[in-house]
Amino acid sequence: MGTAPSVRGGLARPSGERARVRYGTNYFLWIEGVLALSVMKVTLSYARWRGFLPAYYTGFTATCRDESRHVQGGMRYLQDAVRKDPTMINEIHNTLRTILSLSGVVSRQIYYEPLGWTEDEVRMLFCP
Ligand SMILES: [Fe+2]
Repeated sequence: MGTAPSVRGGLARPSGERARVRYGTNYFLWIEGVLALSVMKVTLSYARWRGFLPAYYTGFTATCRDESRHVQGGMRYLQDAVRKDPTMINEIHNTLRTILSLSGVVSRQIYYEPLGWTEDEVRMLFCP
């Protein structure tokens, strides 16, 4: 089995600790800390507001607490990495800059009507 072209092509890629810091920033900070926990909050708020699925609400609340521990562990890892080598903050900033640049692009409209929501109600789920 061959190697992916981007790896084989010799692009400048971080290795070792720098790669782990970028991974931690991507996965623990952004994917779990921002995206997953936000969606979990929306889902739980929806269930709570509507009084739907109380057993699901209880179980998923426990799942959210577990995910929060993962995020805390990842943030601890990033904090320790920066304490050991302050230049690691550049890896975190560069990774976030890339993520936020990509995430700032809206390519499609989201239709909330099938859920019975408005865009303002969705915003309220994030900032009650
Ligand atoms: Fe997790």
